[in-house]
Amino acid sequence: ALVSMKDMLNKALKEGYAVGQFNINNLEWTQAILAAAQEENSPVILGVSEGAARHMGGFKVVTAMTKALIEEMNITVPVAIHLDHGSSFDKCKAAIDAGFTSVMIDASHHPFEENVEETTKVVEYAHARGVSVEAELGTVGGQEDDVVADGVIYADPQECLELVKRTGIDTLAPALGSVHGPYKGEPKLGFDEMEEICKLTNVPLVLHGGTGIPTEHIQKAIARGTSKINVNTENQISFTKKVREVLAKDQEVYDPRKYIVPGRDAIKATVIGKIREFGSNNKA
Ligand code: G3H
Ligand code: ZN
Repeated sequence: ALVSMKDMLNKALKEGYAVGQFNINNLEWTQAILAAAQEENSPVILGVSEGAARHMGGFKVVTAMTKALIEEMNITVPVAIHLDHGSSFDKCKAAIDAGFTSVMIDASHHPFEENVEETTKVVEYAHARGVSVEAELGTVGGQEDDVVADGVIYADPQECLELVKRTGIDTLAPALGSVHGPYKGEPKLGFDEMEEICKLTNVPLVLHGGTGIPTEHIQKAIARGTSKINVNTENQISFTKKVREVLAKDQEVYDPRKYIVPGRDAIKATVIGKIREFGSNNKA
């Protein structure tokens, strides 16, 4: 069933695991992630960046496709369809109006007061419609679609507390050293700040840039209040690697299904691995 992230993340925080947000790009991505979640009896969050929504033809296409797949595939685990890194109130509103059950307003690059103001507007609109809201503080490094950073800024715990209190967000993504895309060397996550922020704010925390974080660090993050982990690049790598393999082996192939289906299976296997690593299997 399509639900918001609120209950799934509060349950995860209480029981000590994390729910994966897996970003989608198209039909096959969505099929692979839904199938993995159902097989593992796990709640799941489908992340949709503004760029991916554009690619798929708009927010309405995304929700219509997702709803139809949930029905046709007999998906019974909780599924949230979530706008990833929403750039403005208007974008969040458009996603909500199209049927998204969750949004992220990423006003982290704005001055603090502006972040509070924009986030508050989104929370008022979203909560009136049963939609959950994620906000961000600090700067996640690297690049994802339209979201580009030229450095990493750690979130300030006191600002986190103030943002949560003043806006009423359901979940917070404090940037603490994580990076979108592959890491150069070992990630340096601020685990002490993570613990402090979760204790202060009492909301489930989100870890962006889940690709390439060693299992040991994932476990440390979950133990310190991280209840949602975003993964995008790793599925892109799995899919593309598989498709390359198939195409390299067979120079004659032209039916797209002959290479897309193995790619889809590779995504599913990656997602199952992450679900088990995050401990959300059998938590639906
Ligand atoms: O918002 C999505 C993510 O934070 C994904 O990051 O591509 O490094 O896995 P990633
Ligand atoms: Zn992100």
